[in-house]
Amino acid sequence: MRVHKKRLDIIADVASFIKKGETIGFVPTMGALHQGHLALIERALKENQKVIVSIFVNPTQFNTSEDLVNYPRTLDSDIKLLSKLSEEIIVFAPTPKEVYGDQISSISYDFKGLENEMEGKFRPGHFDGVGTVLYHFFNIITPNKAYFGEKDFQQLQIVKKLIEIEKMSVQIIGCPIYREESGLALSSRNKRLNQKQLDESPLIYSILKQVKKDFGTKSVTTLNKWVSEQFKANDELTLEYFEIAKASDLKSIKRKQKDTKYRAFIAVFAGEIRLIDNIALN
Ligand code: PAJ
Repeated sequence: MRVHKKRLDIIADVASFIKKGETIGFVPTMGALHQGHLALIERALKENQKVIVSIFVNPTQFNTSEDLVNYPRTLDSDIKLLSKLSEEIIVFAPTPKEVYGDQISSISYDFKGLENEMEGKFRPGHFDGVGTVLYHFFNIITPNKAYFGEKDFQQLQIVKKLIEIEKMSVQIIGCPIYREESGLALSSRNKRLNQKQLDESPLIYSILKQVKKDFGTKSVTTLNKWVSEQFKANDELTLEYFEIAKASDLKSIKRKQKDTKYRAFIAVFAGEIRLIDNIALN
C-alpha cells in the first residue's frame, strides 16, 4: 500500500490516474480509524477505480489546543487497518506544512448561515478550518467523489456548500452513521472514554430514538424539556445542546410544518470528551 507524506508525491499519483482515465474516490479523515471510517472507505472502493484516504489531524479546526494535543494519533495501526481492507488504497498523511505552507490559517467562509448553527455556536471558527483543509485537499486530489459521514451532518451540509462556493466539481456523498451495538456512534474520541462513561453513553442514542418515536405526537418544546431532564438525572453525561432542526438549513424549530425534513442533533460532554450524534426524524 502506498503512503505519501509529500504533496508532490500524491499529485504525481493523481496525475497518472487522470492520464489513465481512472476515477478517484476520496475519504478525508483525521485518523484513529474505526469501523465508521472503514464503511466510508469500503463504499469508495466499490464506486471508484482509485481510492485516496487522507489522515491528517487538521490544526485549524480545533478550538482548544488541549483537544488538538489530545486527539489520538495512531498512524501505524491506521495503515495496518487500511492495508487489510485493500492494498490498493493510497494514503495521504501530510504534515501541516505540506498542506498549509508556512501560514497555518483558515479562509473565512460565508456558508450562508449553516456555520452559525449548533456546532458553529459552540466551536467558533471550526467550520472555516474544515472548509479550508478540504479546499486544499480537493485541489490536490481532484476527486470525482468524496465521502462523508452523516455522523457529522452539519459538516456534510457545509461541505456541499463549500463545493458550490468554490465551484468545484466533486460529488459529495453522505453515508449513514455507524454505531456500536450499544447504539453509541463510533468516534475516534470514544477511545478516551472511561468505563463509567462508556456504560452511560448509550443513553445518547436511546434518547434520540425516543424523540423520533414521539416527534409525531409531542410538541418540540415538550421534547426539548424531556431531553434536558434526562441529562440532569445523569452523573456522567452533561448536555451541551439538543436541537430539532430543519435538515436543509439546520435552523432549529419551535413548531413543525408539513412536507419538511427534520433531524434532532445533540452534543454531550462525558467529562472532557465531547460526543455528538443526530437522527432523521421523518
Ligand atoms: P473524522 O472525525 O476523522 O471523520 C472522517 C469522516 O468519517 C467524516 O466524514 C465523519 O463524518 C465520518 N465518520 C466518523 N464517525 C463516523 C460514524 N460513526 N459513522 C459514519 N461516519 C463517520 O470529520 C473529520 O474527520 C474532519 O472534520 C475532516 C472532514 C477529515 C476534515 O479535517
